[in-house]
Amino acid sequence: MFDQLTQIEPLYQPVTMPDETAEFSPDVEAEIDRHIAKYPVIRSAILPLMFIVQRERGYLDPPGVNYLAKRLKLRITDVWEVATFYSMMHTKPIGRYHLQVCKTLSCKLLGSEKITEHCSKKLGIGVGETTPDGKFSLSEVECLGSCGTAPMFQINFDYYENLTPEKVDQILESLP
Ligand code: FES
Repeated sequence: MFDQLTQIEPLYQPVTMPDETAEFSPDVEAEIDRHIAKYPVIRSAILPLMFIVQRERGYLDPPGVNYLAKRLKLRITDVWEVATFYSMMHTKPIGRYHLQVCKTLSCKLLGSEKITEHCSKKLGIGVGETTPDGKFSLSEVECLGSCGTAPMFQINFDYYENLTPEKVDQILESLP
């Protein structure tokens, strides 16, 4: 039985990255140190560190992922699994404004598909795409915890609720 188990292939696909590792200013390193110091186990600091690396580099690029693996003493695969799990983490370049339309039950029942379709038509991009000028990216995400004001979307860190196509137009046109 034990022999059979040891012959099973691992469930994960190991991820590899080019060798280059990101470097940060002393101020950013100090900020990272402060976050690491908050946790009894260093790998627990993965999310705050990811936010910092993403903020500094625009997205979690291969040098940034290498940096995280080294600082957190994790495998690249471990970092990648977290980076690709959360919709707020980006493993490719993202627009200056990231529209995340909630597609879960309350929002769906109250018209989230129409909102996504309207955004898509207005911006000329599909879900998962970025406008050629790098201004907008469009995603669909799971429940953002604002079900009572459905349909809604999040742009960067702000919520916009009780959306209608007209309201979406106003919001998008107000963004510099
Ligand atoms: S279902 Fe959309 S915020 Fe919860």
